[in-house]
Amino acid sequence: MSNVTRADHDVAPTGPPIVISPMRRRHLRAVLGIEERTSSTPWSLGLFLAEARREERVYLVARSGHRVVGFAGLLFALTDGHVTTIAVDPEHQGGRIGTRLLLVLVRRAIERGAEAVTLEVRASNQPAQALYRRFGFAPAGVRKGYYRDPVEDALVLWAHDVHTPAYAERLAFIEAELPSPLVAEGLAPLPPVDRTDPVDTAGPPEEGYL
Ligand SMILES: CC(C)(COP(=O)(O)OP(=O)(O)OC[C@H]1O[C@@H](n2cnc3c(N)ncnc32)[C@H](O)[C@@H]1OP(=O)(O)O)[C@@H](O)C(=O)NCCC(=O)NCCS
Repeated sequence: MSNVTRADHDVAPTGPPIVISPMRRRHLRAVLGIEERTSSTPWSLGLFLAEARREERVYLVARSGHRVVGFAGLLFALTDGHVTTIAVDPEHQGGRIGTRLLLVLVRRAIERGAEAVTLEVRASNQPAQALYRRFGFAPAGVRKGYYRDPVEDALVLWAHDVHTPAYAERLAFIEAELPSPLVAEGLAPLPPVDRTDPVDTAGPPEEGYL
């Protein structure tokens, strides 16, 4: 964890804008580097490839210029979105990059028809929990000993009714508080899944790019 403080959020940003875009194969070296530095049980290249190529997935990166500084992923299951991963380069943590990634990720889930979004977080991971709280995630349960190295419980968090105008307002408020505009590119429109059509429930790969 870097030694940035809460006050850093209010400092006018310098350097290139942060751009959120679909994760591509060329980003994976940098993604793996961030994964190694932020997780005690990092995903392998094979796992990222296998996961991101599966149907009903959205994987995003945050870039500053040409440099990948964060990434996030989500899978869809009927009307639920499940955040599978989110991480920001330790040098850039505390600079609202995680907020930008989660804004785009949750909006993609809503676009696809999600009504609720869930995730797991280490019980001791306060920065991540602060981020999720702002997005309306609340604890719904505990998975005992879910994490390894060190063994720790996971809190299971849910944000409900994400498809409602009230939640859209929450996201708009979070976006309005960013220190610079939210920039996203390369995100094709996602048609919502027709839940009444059994053929459409699987849907195509969301971002078939890896
Ligand atoms: C959790 C994580 C993705 C957040 O991304 P980020 O860009 O650092 O977060 P943001 O700048 O958008 O800030 C979100 C919240 O995190 C907190 N935070 C993030 N980094 C912090 C830091 N270095 N010091 C203090 N607080 C921090 C802030 O409290 C902020 O909440 P606030 O709005 O109430 O101030 C990032 O810290 C990270 O990669 N951590 C390691 C990997 C990880 O824990 N992933 C989550 C697994 S569930």
